[in-house]
Amino acid sequence: IIEPQNGLVNITAQQGETEIFDGFQTMTYGYNGSFLGPVIKIKSGENVTLRTKNDLLEPTTFHWHGLDIPGDGDGGPHQILKQGQSVDVNFTVNQGASTLWFHPHPEGATAEQVYKGLAGLIYIEDDNSLKLNLPNDYGKNDFPLIFQDRHFTDEKQFDYNAVQNADGTIGNTLLVNGTFNPKLTVGRERIRLRLLNGSNARNYTFKLNTGDAFQQIATDGGFLNKSIELHEITLTPGERAEIIIDFSKFDAESDVALVNEENIRLLPFKIEHPKSSSTAIAEVLNDYMVTEEEKSLPVTKQLELFGMGKMVTINNQQFDMHRIDFTQKLGETEIWEVYNKPDTMGGMIHPFHIHGTQFKVVSIDGEDPAASLQGWKDTISIEPNQTVKLAVKFNNKGIYMFHCHLLEHEENGMMGQVEVK
Ligand code: C2O
Ligand code: CU
Ligand code: CU
Repeated sequence: IIEPQNGLVNITAQQGETEIFDGFQTMTYGYNGSFLGPVIKIKSGENVTLRTKNDLLEPTTFHWHGLDIPGDGDGGPHQILKQGQSVDVNFTVNQGASTLWFHPHPEGATAEQVYKGLAGLIYIEDDNSLKLNLPNDYGKNDFPLIFQDRHFTDEKQFDYNAVQNADGTIGNTLLVNGTFNPKLTVGRERIRLRLLNGSNARNYTFKLNTGDAFQQIATDGGFLNKSIELHEITLTPGERAEIIIDFSKFDAESDVALVNEENIRLLPFKIEHPKSSSTAIAEVLNDYMVTEEEKSLPVTKQLELFGMGKMVTINNQQFDMHRIDFTQKLGETEIWEVYNKPDTMGGMIHPFHIHGTQFKVVSIDGEDPAASLQGWKDTISIEPNQTVKLAVKFNNKGIYMFHCHLLEHEENGMMGQVEVK
């Protein structure tokens, strides 16, 4: 975990070797290390300079997923850093407590560079977040968890090209924070898990093997107004959620694990004595709401997601760096209606993401969204034949991408640009 020193954070993309399987080194990418990246912790209202440097042997960009930031610092495909180049990105943190992330975004190589390990987290804290009585002791009762699937060759090497799939590269090996066969040691208290689906294409439905419920406290871009009780939560690529599991009801011998929809053990817990008394978390966590005015705004942007494999489009077009698809006025809320048009095969889920802002989900097929989506979002899973209405406002000027976060679809052109003036 790193915090700005005199407002400055150094982030270097580099190549290295990582021993993911005992006794086998494989070539990987990482930020400030050989694999994955640090957690950057910043405060609401703080002025921050991210000093980015590209020490890879190829061009890259530094994209801050979920951050409200001017377009020229957003790190989309326009902001290429050549090998050896360094660029300072300055901004003032203009959003509430949340768990965001960062990853590369060069045209044609995003999916591969993320696959090789370029991903890190950003924590934003604000005045409110420290008063809510939430677990926030990093590495003790507050853990970042990045879920990714990867494919290894027989020699336990990463080989993106061998397994690359136009509908999303799926690996047979699950890694949590870059670790194969992970285990997390926790106390008998409330534990906060900040979940990121950092996979290129795989969806995860997280649940406890014991069938117990847990609390969701946050979406992509901030806290829910109140924690909600869930038995499972699904995250598509790019999405985050923060959950709290109460381990005080288990004892040291209990077999507790986070599992997926197929009951595959993603993360077993080792529960340690003694039991510590955890006080209740605050009743009210946030003051998010979709206003009546936002609900009554007309739709001013319509997007149709369509296709599979290489033939993926938004409004029948594929990405063109030289084409601006939409413009929007700074500070003005518009309703984006996004429709996932099925094909004859039925179609597939597209996780739709917009850069440079957090949006509100106004409705899904005309209905209020589920409670777990009633909070700030930057990526939303859209099923075939579904229509979602999003209230979108940008607080900065510039050019921003919107795309499917299934990274191979993004790479195949399921992306467009909005210019905020
Ligand atoms: Cu995670 Cu273009 O974004
Ligand atoms: Cu993004
Ligand atoms: Cu897609």
